[in-house]
Amino acid sequence: MMETALPNFHFHDLHPEPEDFHSDVIAGLRQTPRQLSPKFFYDERGSQLFDAITRLPEYYPTRTEIDLLQRHGEDMADMLGNDGLLFELGSGSDTKIRVLLDALQPQTYAPIDISREPLRLSAGTIAEDHPELEVHAICTDYSKPLALPGVVAAKRRSAFFPGSSIGNFDPGQACDLLRRIANIIGPEGRLLIGVDLKKAPSRLHAAYNDSEGVTAQFNLNLLARINRELDADFDLAAFRHEAFYNAQLGRIEMHLVATAPQRVRIDGCCFEFQAGESIHTENSYKFSVEEFQALAAQAGLASLRVWQDDDALFSVHCLQPI
Ligand code: TRP
Repeated sequence: MMETALPNFHFHDLHPEPEDFHSDVIAGLRQTPRQLSPKFFYDERGSQLFDAITRLPEYYPTRTEIDLLQRHGEDMADMLGNDGLLFELGSGSDTKIRVLLDALQPQTYAPIDISREPLRLSAGTIAEDHPELEVHAICTDYSKPLALPGVVAAKRRSAFFPGSSIGNFDPGQACDLLRRIANIIGPEGRLLIGVDLKKAPSRLHAAYNDSEGVTAQFNLNLLARINRELDADFDLAAFRHEAFYNAQLGRIEMHLVATAPQRVRIDGCCFEFQAGESIHTENSYKFSVEEFQALAAQAGLASLRVWQDDDALFSVHCLQPI
């Protein structure tokens, strides 16, 4: 693919600070309770495993959200207005945006992602497939304050934030992020956001503990990556994946639990684990429609419309700055 030669494709590299995997891992494992940042899940192997997760029969969020976009794309497009610019936050896989672009047909598509090469590739392919669409890919960290290139600042703006990624932030951070998105889209803008719903804990449990063990491999890949990249000696067989619903906090918690006492070396640093000791790797908050609307309102966003599937598994909200 010749994406650099496409007249409708522009790449804005805002040079997000490179992640310091080494110091982040050491600092996280020294904390009590120990933790590792979920942003390190998605190396090449991790991205492949997550892709496999999205196709598991038990993992309902991805297919339910795509189905909602397919069924209600026209309604969603009516609410967003198709004369302007559409941002996408954390574009990852492009299935969802393709469905939305077909319905919405905006003038400009501006995906924002921290992962430079995957962004270049997926945005370039979209530019190639939609010659009438101006594509401005922006490489930056959307979880930090953001100054946008002038070319995308002027028009009527909407944003698309799929995948219930908002649920991977603690409520305070989620509120800050929503507020930042409200600033990006401006007073006339709209935000279309996917939000996973509260439901029977057994259903949630199955989605994060699939029978083929793909989810376990995905979680354990974090330790494998530390071994590969940081000269460490985690024994993967001595840790198990654990995911459970914490009803009080309304979130699925992902952990890696040591099955036996052990000592791990990471580039000269030594860590002692007791049997049963856990490393917390991610949270995935679940919301009722009203809970999410209350969070959005705190961030200055009013709910215009909500779509959900017949089984009330997943929701897509259209929000507007108050
Ligand atoms: N962001 C995804 C989610 O919250 C990540 C995810 C799915 C995940 N399954 C997992 C993270 C298992 C760790 C372990 O749904």
